[in-house]
Amino acid sequence: MVTDIITLAHFTIEEQRRLGVGSGDFTSLLNDLSTAFKIISREVNRGNLVGGLGSAGSDNVQGEQQKHLDIIANTAMLHALQSSGHLAGMASEEMDEIFHIPTRYQRGKYLLLFDPLDGSSNIDVNGTVGTIFSVLRAPESVERPTLKDFLQPGTSQVAAGYTIYGPSTVLALTYGSGVHTFTLDWTIGSFVLSQANLRVPERTDEFAINASRLRYLEAPVRRYVDECIAGKDGPRGMNFNMRWTGSMVADIHRILLRGGIFIYALDSANKRTGGKLRLMYEANPMAMIMEQAGGMASTGRGRIMELVPENLHQRVPVIAGSAAEVDRVIEYHIQDEVKAA
Ligand code: AHG
Ligand code: MN
Ligand code: MN
Repeated sequence: MVTDIITLAHFTIEEQRRLGVGSGDFTSLLNDLSTAFKIISREVNRGNLVGGLGSAGSDNVQGEQQKHLDIIANTAMLHALQSSGHLAGMASEEMDEIFHIPTRYQRGKYLLLFDPLDGSSNIDVNGTVGTIFSVLRAPESVERPTLKDFLQPGTSQVAAGYTIYGPSTVLALTYGSGVHTFTLDWTIGSFVLSQANLRVPERTDEFAINASRLRYLEAPVRRYVDECIAGKDGPRGMNFNMRWTGSMVADIHRILLRGGIFIYALDSANKRTGGKLRLMYEANPMAMIMEQAGGMASTGRGRIMELVPENLHQRVPVIAGSAAEVDRVIEYHIQDEVKAA
C-alpha cells in the first residue's frame, strides 16, 4: 500500500522526536549518506559498464590490491559528504590518512569512518558487496580534527551501519536505539523501512568462517568449529551448516536475519597484524549493529567496542552474532586460559 511507505528520512525524524534527541543535523547527514549509497549501488550495478571491474593497479595502505570500484565507492562517499556541513572529517579503508573537510565547505560536529566497498574480491564475479560506516562525534571546539580525535572506542559511536548491494540494496542502521533496515526503492528514489527493531535470532545452526584457515586457529576457536562440524555426533548434539561469502557485510546481514556466528579470529598466520578486519570501520560498526540487535561482538577475549584504538587502520579479531554462540567462544577462551595457568 502506498500509504504504508515510511522513508528513511520520515522514520529518522519520528525516532529522534520520540527519543527527544537530534537537532536535524543528523537527519541531514543521513540524507547525504543515503545519496552516496545510491550512487555506489548504481555503480556496483553497472559493473563493467563503468569500468568498475578488475584491479586499479594500486594498493591501499594495508597493502591490499584496490579494485576500480573500491576507488569509485571511496570517491562517491567523499563527494557526497564533504559538502554536507555536518562532518568535521572522514577516514576510510582506502585512504592512508584522515580526510580534512576542504575549507570552502562548512564544518560540522561529526566524524565519519567507512569501508567504501567491503567484500570487493566479490566484485569480479558479480557477488555481494557493501559499504560499512561509523559515525563519531568530533571533540567539541575542535576546528580541524587530528588523528587522535578519531581514535575513540566503539562505545562512542553515535550511529553505525552498512548498506548491502545484493539483489536489493538494503541499509541496516542503528543510532543506539535498535537496528532498523531500509530497502532502496528506485522507483521513488528513497530507502523505505523494511523492518524496525530487528533482533538477531537466538537459536542458530549456522556458522561462518574461512575454512581454509582452520589449521592456523587457536585452540578455543578450533574447538568451537570442530564441535559445530561434529554435528549431532559431537557435544553440540545437532548439525550445523556453514556459509562464507568473503564479504563481511553479506555474512553479517545473513546472521542478523537468521542467526549464526561470524568468525575472523586471531590465528597463527595473522597474529603479527592482530587479525584481519579493521577495528574502526569494519569491526566497531558491525559490533554496534550486533549488540543493538541483541547479539554480541567480541575478540574472544573482550568486547570489541571497548577497545581503545591506537591507529586508524588497526586490525582486530572478530567473533560476532547470536549471543549464546559468541558467549560459548568466549567461555572456551576462558577455559583455555585457566588450563594454561
Ligand atoms: P575488504 O573487501 O573491504 O578488504 O574486506 C574483506 C574482508 C571482509 O569483508 C571479509 O569477511 C574478509 O575480508 C574475507 O577475508 P578472506 O578472503 O580471508 O576470507
Ligand atoms: Mn571490508
Ligand atoms: Mn573495502
